[in-house]
Amino acid sequence: MSTVSARKTRPRRSCLAVPGSSQKMIDKARGLNADQVFLDLEDACAPLAKPDARKTIVAALNEGGWDGKTRVVRVNDWTTEWTYRDVTEVVEGAGANLDCLMLPKVQTAEQVIALDLLITQIEKTMGYEVGKIGIEAQIENALGLTNVNAIAAASPRVETIIFGPADFMASINMKSLVVGEQPPGYDVGDAYHHILMSILMAARAYDKQAIDGPYLQIKDVDGFRRVAGRSAALGFDGKWVLHPGQLDAANETFSPGQSDYDHAENILDAYDWYTSEAGGKRGAAMLGDEMIDEASRKMALVISGKGRAAGMQRNDKWSPPES
Ligand code: GLV
Ligand code: MG
Repeated sequence: MSTVSARKTRPRRSCLAVPGSSQKMIDKARGLNADQVFLDLEDACAPLAKPDARKTIVAALNEGGWDGKTRVVRVNDWTTEWTYRDVTEVVEGAGANLDCLMLPKVQTAEQVIALDLLITQIEKTMGYEVGKIGIEAQIENALGLTNVNAIAAASPRVETIIFGPADFMASINMKSLVVGEQPPGYDVGDAYHHILMSILMAARAYDKQAIDGPYLQIKDVDGFRRVAGRSAALGFDGKWVLHPGQLDAANETFSPGQSDYDHAENILDAYDWYTSEAGGKRGAAMLGDEMIDEASRKMALVISGKGRAAGMQRNDKWSPPES
């Protein structure tokens, strides 16, 4: 297992999918405002194109130009014959310029541990810092969801748990072809709620990020906003983006609104002051018409953390009352 235990939390409001076999799309991705780019060796890369795509990806990572973006490669899942070559070629060739590997169709904690062990050996052989490369685990079928807590806890390398809706819908025989939208005939709730919440609970229990998967109707940006808005409201940290037209919507949806951000920063300042000697060492206090306490501070920390990570500035600043 890896030796790095405290991993840094990276912004992942928008996670841009780029086929590893397309030099043109890789070049274009460098200039786009995605928090994360993942170069795909799995489903967006045809089987016959995979060997060349590994080389294209290694060169693209080593050429650089990804400043400020989290650099991820999605390898093929362990049930295929491609995983070990994907991992070996990419990590040996570009491990110094790679932040995470994404493992699709994860079904058990052991599959995460197997990837951790393989990466560890490559890191040792190549002289990289052991544990530096993170793992993003995609949940795409019923067994994966059943084991999601163990998957989240399987290795300190795990940074995110990702919902893969297309494969998931297929794997449970959902009667729909439209990813992200409700299956026709199901009119009593949100068919994805249990899946999203299970992923979110596992992520929060083990201090990982929760990422929502793709929305395939790429021309329907309003549809993207609607679906992204649901997972953002639950507490997800970001969503996949398949087309540059979805990027702004993802970045906006997974950042707090300006008034919520200002409000959160004001709660933190006010609570800090009221609990201090000067503010009367109070555990609960009034901020305008609202009572704030330690739980308010925790909620405010979430919103302020997302806002600060997105580079937001305050428009409104609370000051202590005049004595
Ligand atoms: C993504 O990989 C999905 O299956 O939705
Ligand atoms: Mg998938």
